[in-house]
Amino acid sequence: MKIIAETDRLVLRHFITADDQALFELDRNPNVLTYLNTPPVEKIEVIQAMIARVQKEYETHGVGRVAVVLRETQETIGWAGLKYISSEINGHINYYDLGYRFIERMWGNGYGYEAAKATLDYAYNDLKLKEVFATAMLDHKVSRRILEKIGLKYIEDCDYDGVPHAWYKGENERSENLKDIPDRKPNKVD
Ligand SMILES: CC(C)(COP(=O)(O)OP(=O)(O)OC[C@H]1O[C@@H](n2cnc3c(N)ncnc32)[C@H](O)[C@@H]1OP(=O)(O)O)[C@@H](O)C(=O)NCCC(=O)NCCS
Repeated sequence: MKIIAETDRLVLRHFITADDQALFELDRNPNVLTYLNTPPVEKIEVIQAMIARVQKEYETHGVGRVAVVLRETQETIGWAGLKYISSEINGHINYYDLGYRFIERMWGNGYGYEAAKATLDYAYNDLKLKEVFATAMLDHKVSRRILEKIGLKYIEDCDYDGVPHAWYKGENERSENLKDIPDRKPNKVD
């Protein structure tokens, strides 16, 4: 089980099978999904399949969303991390998306910011990515606050599955050893 980042209060580690209960509590709650274009999950099997899918992404892409665990209690409180996007969104393809989602009773403790910052540090300092992207629904003030507080820049509004979103970009300012990620327009010929 790989740990990708640690903070004062949190451990960000690869998903394990036993995360299914916590992630089910997360995705079955309509309040969690207010700013996500997706219906509540009704069966834990859907979560178990999702965990297996993400575990494959770790192998295929080297990244995937990870569990966020409270250091003190070892409780899984949600997920954060990077996802490799290989479908086209806002004219971009083959890029790294930064995201996070937490169980409702954990909101408002600064965990969102802490996990997002740890993810960005991991992307820049460990993976040495040149850039990462993120989206949030236009009126999702809390998520946009987190993205801006960790240093991502609002670029433009965009359409994401028919819903208006804000498109954010983070650029790694360290100049040495940066991995050139193909933030390619889909129609660009290599
Ligand atoms: C969005 C989410 C990750 C925020 O996580 P969180 O741990 O509650 O956020 P934080 O405690 O780190 O707070 C981040 C900022 O938002 C502010 N904030 C938190 N809750 C707020 C609220 N209800 N109203 C207004 N501001 C709020 C905090 O004060 C903080 O800003 P500050 O640094 O200026 O003080 C969490 O609400 C969540 O998981 N939501 C459901 C999933 C989701 O929407 N994911 C993002 C999709 S783009």
